[in-house]
Amino acid sequence: MCGIVGYVGARPVQGLLLAGLEKLEYRGYDSAGISILSGEQVDSVRAVGNLQALRDAVAALPHAAEVPGGAPVAVAEPTTGIGHTRWATHGRVSEENAHPHEDVDGRIHIVVNGIVENYMALKRELADEGVVFTSETDAEVIAHVISRRYDGDLPAAVQAAYGELVGHFAFVAMAADEPGVLVGARRECPLVVGRGDGEQFLASAVPAFLEHTRRVQFIEDGELVVLRPGGVDFMSPDGTPIEREVVEIDWDAETAEKGGYETFMLKEIHEQADAVAETIADRTARGDGVDLGDLGTIDDAFLRDVRRIIVVACGTSYHAGLIGRYAIEGWARVPVEMDVASEYRYRNPVVGPGDLVIGISQSGETADTLAAMRLARERGATVLAITNVMGSQATRDADGVLFTRAGLEIGVAATKTFVGQVAVMYLLALRLAELRGTLAPERLAELVGELKRLPHHITEMLDAGDEEIRAIAERHYKAEFFLYLGRHIGLPVALEGALKLKEISYIATDAYAAGEMKHGPIALLDDDTPVVCVATDSPVLDKVVSNIQEVRVRGAHVIAVASAGNEEIREHAEEVLTVAETDWMLAPLLAVVPLQLLSYHVARLRGLNVDQPRNLAKTVTVE
Ligand code: F6R
Repeated sequence: MCGIVGYVGARPVQGLLLAGLEKLEYRGYDSAGISILSGEQVDSVRAVGNLQALRDAVAALPHAAEVPGGAPVAVAEPTTGIGHTRWATHGRVSEENAHPHEDVDGRIHIVVNGIVENYMALKRELADEGVVFTSETDAEVIAHVISRRYDGDLPAAVQAAYGELVGHFAFVAMAADEPGVLVGARRECPLVVGRGDGEQFLASAVPAFLEHTRRVQFIEDGELVVLRPGGVDFMSPDGTPIEREVVEIDWDAETAEKGGYETFMLKEIHEQADAVAETIADRTARGDGVDLGDLGTIDDAFLRDVRRIIVVACGTSYHAGLIGRYAIEGWARVPVEMDVASEYRYRNPVVGPGDLVIGISQSGETADTLAAMRLARERGATVLAITNVMGSQATRDADGVLFTRAGLEIGVAATKTFVGQVAVMYLLALRLAELRGTLAPERLAELVGELKRLPHHITEMLDAGDEEIRAIAERHYKAEFFLYLGRHIGLPVALEGALKLKEISYIATDAYAAGEMKHGPIALLDDDTPVVCVATDSPVLDKVVSNIQEVRVRGAHVIAVASAGNEEIREHAEEVLTVAETDWMLAPLLAVVPLQLLSYHVARLRGLNVDQPRNLAKTVTVE
């Protein structure tokens, strides 16, 4: 998840771009850059680190005297510029990999958010045509693809290039020969236009230009947009003009940062389709298998022969690991042990060469997880880190790293990083199965296909609205206790749902393997106790339904999460939240979403600050 910004108009552009990037820094902050067009001369500056590093580098530019966000000044020609703040996905954090990227002649400049899935094929093609690449990124191909289509008409070149690109991205292009023109394109990643008088803005999110204009135009998925100081034209990829209304937004700066959502947590719940799509994109591009990319010193031979996997993590990350265990054991037939990192590090574990220890940590800085990973490594195990943060300590303490690509998460309660972690565990399980030959090729391809459909299912579910979930929350937000039940793959979902509710609403919760309920927790049930049951389709659904009946006869109130198409469940549960049908092993990635929203609404109805729950911290660097 990166941040992009563009400006065309009569004002000095450098300060406007830097101020815009500052508002987008939450989308990524490992490197940044800008390209500015004055006359037909392009100045491009990139720097590793946060925006201050870019500001320092920019200070050396000829136009350094500009005042950030300064008042309009009359200039002879329109000024045009693009900027980027990066959250690395392909390619290390380095100046070469920072955006903007440019074509061979330095005449076409682009900034990109997202992933070009077919970049390897395009790169080979372009290299055969003599293009020399200057970065390791997937994004750079866009500059070259536009360049080979360019004959003095940037909108036409972008339109042609757009058709060649596969993936999940938004980008903005600028050509040295066409001052005063910016062309943007959107495929699933966000991009929005800000309309001014004699000037126009383009950015990943409204805060980037909110101080200059509140008049916006939303670019829909699969649209291109051409900005000139005097106006903005929308078009479809085949060039058909599109009318788009200008909307006056009344957001204050804080609301704008939350993308119009009332809290960061809600915004991040709504970013989950993107988090999954970006995490799996290029890794599933092949369709019939999974490519995990560079895993440091962990090679295919090691993965093929690995004798045991041990997952160490804390909290929500531990729950992602639990889901991974079912997938790895089920598909790849490798035994998986799980432990919370704070226990593992002190129990003198039996671990050594041949074992793969996976540390899962969104922050990559959790003290217990790091200590558990170090201990395993000291004893000769191979350690793989799964994290959302490039450069975090976990990436330095591991033999290999698999990144989730959820973007920065601000809400303390993990949501989009969790689905990113689960997606990575599925990828790993599928890759192991592929290497070990434990799944038939057709079954492997089928699962990859289902995995690729999950972002779409999440989007549909969230777009359908959450009125039903809110109504359930209204009925139960005063309850003093919630019980969560699940079996097999539904159990970690129940555990995660219960953790979400307790941490943001301060309601006591318990989560149990449904089959264990009668061995103790059943005593907690009384009239109207809300019991949330994860009852998505699976080979153990009948057993879950039996457990639901045990709950019902004690007078408790059952809220079931079930797969669409299961009408029968309504005979057993008072309330049913449905998720799309998918392969049963993948259902957790969908089933967790209504449970996040249920916690969210309960906490809001109790008047609580969901983004910063009491006593909790986003990164736990103490044991
Ligand atoms: C819960 C939550 C925590 C974290 C835990 C581990 O919403 O966010 O339970 O999952 O503190 O953090 P990381 O993943 O950064 O190691």
